[in-house]
Amino acid sequence: MRGLAELPVPEEAQDDARVTVYLVTVDYTDDEGGSEQYQVPLSSYDDAQERIAYAFVGSVEGGDGRIRHLYDGAHDRSAMALWLQGFIAAEASGTAQKDGMRFRRVSVPGQELDPGLQSSPLTGEQSNSSVKFDDTAIMKLFRKVSPGVNPDIEIHEVLTRGGSDYVADLYGWIETDLPDGGVLQLAMLQEFLRTASDGFELATGSVRTLLAHLELSVEESGGDFAGEATRLGEALAAVHRMLRDSFPAQGRGEDSTGELAGAMIARLEHARRIVPEIEPYADRLRAAYDAVAALGRLDVQRVHGDLHLGQTLRTSQGWKIVDFEGEPGRPFAERALPDSPWRDVAGMLRSFDYAARVVEMSGTGGDETEAPLRAQRAREWSARARRLFLEGYVAALGAEAGPEQQRGVLLDAYVADKAVYEAVYEKRNRPSWIPIPLAALERIGG
Ligand SMILES: Nc1ncnc2c1ncn2[C@@H]1O[C@H](COP(=O)(O)OP(=O)(O)O)[C@@H](O)[C@H]1O
Ligand SMILES: [Mg+2]
Repeated sequence: MRGLAELPVPEEAQDDARVTVYLVTVDYTDDEGGSEQYQVPLSSYDDAQERIAYAFVGSVEGGDGRIRHLYDGAHDRSAMALWLQGFIAAEASGTAQKDGMRFRRVSVPGQELDPGLQSSPLTGEQSNSSVKFDDTAIMKLFRKVSPGVNPDIEIHEVLTRGGSDYVADLYGWIETDLPDGGVLQLAMLQEFLRTASDGFELATGSVRTLLAHLELSVEESGGDFAGEATRLGEALAAVHRMLRDSFPAQGRGEDSTGELAGAMIARLEHARRIVPEIEPYADRLRAAYDAVAALGRLDVQRVHGDLHLGQTLRTSQGWKIVDFEGEPGRPFAERALPDSPWRDVAGMLRSFDYAARVVEMSGTGGDETEAPLRAQRAREWSARARRLFLEGYVAALGAEAGPEQQRGVLLDAYVADKAVYEAVYEKRNRPSWIPIPLAALERIGG
C-alpha cells in the first residue's frame, strides 16, 4: 500500500481533516496470477472523530510520533468537502492542481458548485462508491483503478459536450500523475438526477403489477411498460448516434464477422462442457453464428459495452443511461475498441427478459394453480417490452439501423451469445435460474 496524493489541511479549515488517497495492490497467487490496484481514500485526524465512528479504519503513528486516526474518506463530510473545493478551484480555468491531485472541471453553464454542499455516501449495491453532494452532484469514486483513460469519464465528457439529453452531465473528474508518466483517473463528478428511478426496479415493478392482476390484460392491469420500453429504445438510439459521430469511425477488416462468429462459437463450446442443458440448442446456435460469419461486413462504433436495465434511470426528463465504464475486468484499451451497437441492444433485450422471469419465479403468490398463467403473462410482458424497445430503437435510427436481414442476424447472435454466458453464470451461481437463459436459447432460430 502506498500513498498517492494528499490533500492537507487548508488554511480556512475548521478541523484538521486531511485526505490521503492510498493505492492498494492486490497480487493474485492462483494459476491466473496478475495483480489489481484499488483506490482507498482515507481521512486522518489527531483526535478521534465520534461523528464518523462507524467509518473508523484504524490508528497509525505519524512521522512526528503522533497518533493519527484514520477513516473511510467517502463517509467523511470534511474530507469530501476538500475534494469539492478542488472542483470549485478548477471552475475558472478547467484545471486545478492540488497536492498531487488534478481536478478537472467541465463547465456546464449555470452549474456552478456551491462550497457549502454536504456530502453523503450512496447506500445501494454497486461496484464503485458514490457520494452525493446534496441534490446537486454525485461523485463516483472508482474503486479498482488502472492507468489510462476511464471510459466512463471519456464517454460522459463527449456526450455532455455534445449536449445529449440522455445522460447526466459530467461536471468534472480527478486524476493523478504516476511516477512512470501514466495517469490514474480516480473519480468523476456528475449532475445528480433527483427524480431518477432505477430502470430494473421500474421494470420489475411493472411485472409485479401485471402478475398481481392475472385476470386483467396487460393494458388494463396498469403494468404496461410499452411506452417506457419504446422511449428507452429511442434514448439508446440517440446515444449510439452521438457516440458514432463523436468517436473516430474505425473500419473492421473483411473477415471481422468471421472472427466474431469464431469467438461466439468458442464461447459456446466452452459453455457446453459446463452446462450440458445447452446441448439441444447447440446446432441452432452454431447456425446463428454461421449466419454472422456469412455477413462478411460489420459496422462497429463506440458502444456502452455493459448495458442492462440497471444502467438506466428514468427521470421526469425521460430516460438517462449511466455507467459507461464498459465490461469490468477487461483492460481500458480493449473496452475502448469499437464494437457492434447490437451488442448493447441485445444486453437490454436480455435484461427485459430477466425482469419478467425474476418476478415470475419469485413466488407464485400462494396459489400453485396460477403458475402457468403467471408464466404466460411474464412471457407476454417480456416479449412486448423487447419488441417495443427494438421498434423504438430502429425507428429512431431510420436507415442508419441497417438492412433488416442483417440486423436480425446480428441481434440473434448477440442475444444467443449473452444467454450462453448467462447459462454458465447461473449454472455456477444460481442453478434454479438456468431456465431463464435456456428459454432464450430455445427462441433462437426457432
Ligand atoms: N447521475 C446520477 N444521479 C442519480 N443517481 C445516480 C446517478 N448516476 C448513478 N446513480 C445511481 O448510482 C448507481 C450506481 O451508478 P453506476 O454509475 O452504475 O456505478 P457502478 O459503476 O458502481 O455500477 C446507479 O444504479 C444509480 O442508482
Ligand atoms: Mg453500474
